[in-house]
Parts: sequence; structure tokens; C-alpha cells
Amino acid sequence: MDHFNYRDGVLYAEDVPLPRIAADHGTPCYVYSKATLARHFRAYTEALGGHPHLICYAVKANSNLAVLGLLARLGAGFDIVSVGELERVLKAGGDPAKVVFSGVAKQEAEMARALEVGIKCFNVESRSELERLNRVAERLGRVAPVSLRVNPDVDAGTHPYISTGLKDNKFGIAVDEALEVYALAARLPHLKVVGLDCHIGSQLTETAPFLDALERLLALLDRLREQGIVVEHLDLGGGLGVTYRDERPPQPFDYATALLERLSRWEGSERLTLLFEPGRSIAANAGVLLTRVEFLKPGETKNFAIVDAGMNDLIRPSLYQAWQAIVPVDTRNARQTGLYDVVGPVCETGDFLGKDRELAIGEGDLLAVRSAGAYGFVMASNYNSRPRPAELMVDGDRVHVVRRRERLEELWTGEALLPAGAL
Ligand code: LLP
Repeated sequence: MDHFNYRDGVLYAEDVPLPRIAADHGTPCYVYSKATLARHFRAYTEALGGHPHLICYAVKANSNLAVLGLLARLGAGFDIVSVGELERVLKAGGDPAKVVFSGVAKQEAEMARALEVGIKCFNVESRSELERLNRVAERLGRVAPVSLRVNPDVDAGTHPYISTGLKDNKFGIAVDEALEVYALAARLPHLKVVGLDCHIGSQLTETAPFLDALERLLALLDRLREQGIVVEHLDLGGGLGVTYRDERPPQPFDYATALLERLSRWEGSERLTLLFEPGRSIAANAGVLLTRVEFLKPGETKNFAIVDAGMNDLIRPSLYQAWQAIVPVDTRNARQTGLYDVVGPVCETGDFLGKDRELAIGEGDLLAVRSAGAYGFVMASNYNSRPRPAELMVDGDRVHVVRRRERLEELWTGEALLPAGAL
């Protein structure tokens, strides 16, 4: 459930009509709902009830400081993949002791900074990374807490670009190799084994692949225990899907209930803290991209609705053929319905937000691209020298600018002309 609803034919974000936001702040812009973010976060914590747990929001999904700050206030931990994300978390008031650091190519300086601020855990993805981390920790006179990200080789049944738990993905350590790598981790003097983790993919719409992965991880924990290696936490990554169109993904409650049921039959489960790294399921349906129709362009085989947001603002449709709902913001005008490809201003045929959409719209009308709160702004670029859109957070009847629209001068910040002599 989210807080974007129609009232008398006009789409609202919480108590604010979207046309007012467009008038005050211009388009395109991302509009987030604070209540929806909070609700989605609490769905996880409530589902896990009394079982020891930590929800580490995946910063990559939406890294706006206001989003991070809100989740930090609600008690969230964070899953980061770069020092940039770490600094954002710190800036937003996040607790470094609740941060887990994922990613296949952590650099020495990134490891050093994370050790310095005292993160909860490094999710290590290879033997070489383990050795690098040990060296960096030694140099700093620290002991690095580690978890190994294993690749359980389960098919998440999702888009190939966002499936990560198969043998031929670059992520994680094969389950069969994991015992040996854990033994190495236990031997390295500047590492402390604290966890086991996996992340099998994103936008999963069934619980079965998660349960398959859990089964394999529990079997691995049993074998580790035989070798005297006992972990404090099990991190099952993120990946829970959302409804973009007609998907019916399990809710956090169903997901957690299924996991806890299986876990309850595993010896020692009450001492095993569960970690999750949800991104999309918290942020996606907490945001829309608000855009205005510039022109309607009828064609012989297609009609185009050319809008002021493009693939540089929201790349998911172009990159993954992702389907996101596109809805008129004001339905009170009796427009004629037509079939449109909703396309942006970027000079690429792949620049579309949606294809073959039945819409009753006219030039100048506002459209909302739904489910744009995750992997929206964070993947925006300046392609075609387009300033990135503003981001706004609605809280009841108030609107906060949480990132102002980029200015033209910012497009060339850091660039330089060749010196006169070099021309
Ligand atoms: N943990 C790790 C290690 C991850 O790689 C990811 C996402 C997450 C957690 C969060 O997964 P989520 O709960 O959001 O599914 N740009 C793509 C999605 C890429 C996901 C990458 N990893 C999209 O727009 O669909």
C-alpha cells in the first residue's frame, strides 16, 4: 500500500495534489511519500517480531539524504556498496555500527574508511578480497568483521540483469568453495568471522527461491559449526519484488513468516540474528516521477506522447524493458483516449518510459510514472546535457525539497577548456 491516491479525479501524494507540486517546483521531478517509506520499512520490522534482526536498507535503491535520514531515525541499518554510500549514510545520521558493506571490488581506501568508522560487517565476495581486507586491517591495527557472500546457485526467476545468485554470475563465492574460504578467514589474524550472507537477485515474486537459498545456507552453517566456526548473523540480502503491474509478490510478512518457520527447525536459530538488505520493496512504490506532456505527435503506425522526462531521468524502461504504470495526474478533463508510446526528449530510439499505453491526455497535461522511488533518480544521468530533476519529499500536507533541480552551470563543473597554448 502506498500514499499516492486520487481524490476527486486528481492524484495526490499524501495530502498534496501533484499539480500543485508541478506548479511550485516544475517538471520533471521525483516525488516521494514519507509515510509510504516508513510504512514499508516497518512492514519488515513488524514481520520479524521478536526474532533478533536488523534491516539494512540497500542504499543504492534511493540514496537521497532525506530518505536515509528518515530510515536511520526509524532504526534502520544500511547496506552499502561504495565509500560514497558510506559517507551519505554518515551524513544522514546513520549508525556505522549498523552498516554492512557489499560489492565485488572494494578498494583499499574504501575498506580503510569503513574500518575507521567501525562498520558492522564486510560482505566479502572473493578470496582475494579477504586477503586485501586482512592487509588493510593489519595496517590500521584493526580487526575487520567479515561475512562471506556465498552464491547458492538458485534461480531467482527474474530478469537476467538483476539475477545474481547463479553460478555464472560474478557475485559471491560458490557454496562448495565456501568452507575452505571460511577456514582461511578464520586463520587470518586481522579478520573476525561474524556472518554468512547471500543476495540472489532483485524483483523476486516468489518465496521459493529465498527458501531454497536458506536451505543451502543452513546446510553450510551446519558444516561450519562442525569445524568450530560459529557465526552471529545470517544475511539473506534484499530482492523482494514489488507490484509494478500485476505481479503479486509476497509481502514482507509472508516472506518473514516462511523464513522464521524454516529457521525454527534449525538448532541454535534463536541465537542467529537475521539481516535483510531490502531496497526496492521499501522505496519503489514510495515515489513517482512527475512529468509533463510537451507534444502529442500522431504517426502512421504509432502515436507518441513526448514528455519532458527521458531515459536520462528514469532508465529502467530502456535498460531492462521494465514496465512502470504511467497515469494521468488530473482525470477531470474529458480527453479522448488514444494509444501512445510515452517517449522522452533524448535523441535515442530507446528513450521511452512506456509503450502502447492507453491514455486520455492532451498537450500540457501531467503524467505520473509510478513505482519510481527505487532505482529512479539514483540511476539518472546528464546524457544530452540534461540537468537532473528535483527530488521532493511529501509529509502530510508539506512538501520538502530534498534535492533541488540541477543547474545548468553544474553540468560542466570540474571540466576545463584546453589552455590557449594547447589549441
Ligand atoms: N543487496 C545487494 C548485495 C544487492 O546487490 C542489491 C541490489 C540489494 C541488496 C537490494 O535489492 P532489492 O531489495 O532492491 O531488490 N537497477 C535494478 C536493480 C539492481 C539491483 C542490484 N542489487 C532495477 O532497476 O531493477
